[in-house]
Amino acid sequence: MRVAHAPTSVPEVADEPAISFEHVRKVYSARTQDARDASAVDDLTLAVRPHEVLVLVGPSGCGKSTTLRMANRLVEPTSGRILLEGEDVTRVDPVKLRRRMGYVIQNVGLFPHRTVAQNVATVPGLLGWDRKRTAARVEELLDLVGLPPQRYARRYPHELSGGERQRVGVARALATDPPVLLMDEPFGAVDPVGRRHLQAEFARIQRALGITVILVTHDIDEAVRMADRVAVLSTGAHIEQLAAPLDVVARPASAAVSDLVGRGRTARLLALGRLELADLAPVAGDVHGEPVTVGTELGDVLHAFVGATQTVPVVDATGTVVGSATPATVVRALDRVTSGQPDETQVTDLTDAPVGTVRS
Ligand SMILES: Nc1ncnc2c1ncn2[C@@H]1O[C@H](COP(=O)(O)OP(=O)(O)OP(=O)(O)O)[C@@H](O)[C@H]1O
Ligand SMILES: [Mg+2]
Repeated sequence: MRVAHAPTSVPEVADEPAISFEHVRKVYSARTQDARDASAVDDLTLAVRPHEVLVLVGPSGCGKSTTLRMANRLVEPTSGRILLEGEDVTRVDPVKLRRRMGYVIQNVGLFPHRTVAQNVATVPGLLGWDRKRTAARVEELLDLVGLPPQRYARRYPHELSGGERQRVGVARALATDPPVLLMDEPFGAVDPVGRRHLQAEFARIQRALGITVILVTHDIDEAVRMADRVAVLSTGAHIEQLAAPLDVVARPASAAVSDLVGRGRTARLLALGRLELADLAPVAGDVHGEPVTVGTELGDVLHAFVGATQTVPVVDATGTVVGSATPATVVRALDRVTSGQPDETQVTDLTDAPVGTVRS
């Protein structure tokens, strides 16, 4: 399970990494004589913490998929080491390795002539589980991903929507309860609304299982929404910045990160930043209107002023009025978020954090 008392933004984590990449390089050999071999991944060192969602984001061709595929040995590194829970993956039989690492890709690759249940049961079948155990596991997984088995188990992939197929892909990857899940553009083929829904749904599953996830995307919004930490990569899987979503958006570490975050940055900050006691003005006179609660997303606070009063009361979790907010309060909060004193503002109670992440 996710450890609620240990926010993932704390820099030192005592646990050993779930996966670590140590000076990993991958050079695909050039096929033509004049082409020089270039590193798809060039000296990547990265430690993935247990139970976190680490998102790799970056432009096309920067080495995201190669990085992921080296972890489960679909691609062999040219040099360097990759450790899974301390064990060198090159010393583990690839088939056994993949049982410890689920893998979900865009368009899933379901077997078209097998039912949903049969697809989910693929790996248990290979492992020789008996029918009863397999059936029970399939039911459990379909429930988990929000596809009631009575309705879905006997359908074929072509009888499902894209989002439903993607859920089956997740269920299949989770069949043997792997501690690690690798996801390469898992929601890429789904329309924006379905995508938001799947992201939220997946965050819930990830929290419930406490699974460690490396997720690849080129969508910065998906990255900041899903991640505990975001690794922004440039060519050669060079790490431009590795930080919590809010830090990446509020304080881009390089021009490449600014480029990625640049447009729509304020909107993203409004979604990531939260109203804090320190932002509030005192209550002066009568303040009317729907109250907003401390901890509300800044975007939702701003929304409270649309077509309504310019001052709203702010309450704490017990409903006690603790101050008031105006549009200027939101601007002040944005200032705070951008200038960054994040540490004492971390939300430590994750029970109702929206999408699998610690947010301030
Ligand atoms: N099998 C291969 N043989 C030769 N070159 C490859 C191979 N696979 C990938 N590459 C090259 O390695 C680099 C990194 O590719 P990779 O697929 O890891 O990028 P990516 O970040 O996942 O990109 P995208 O966002 O487009 O999926 C690219 O320049 C690509 O052309
Ligand atoms: Mg890719």
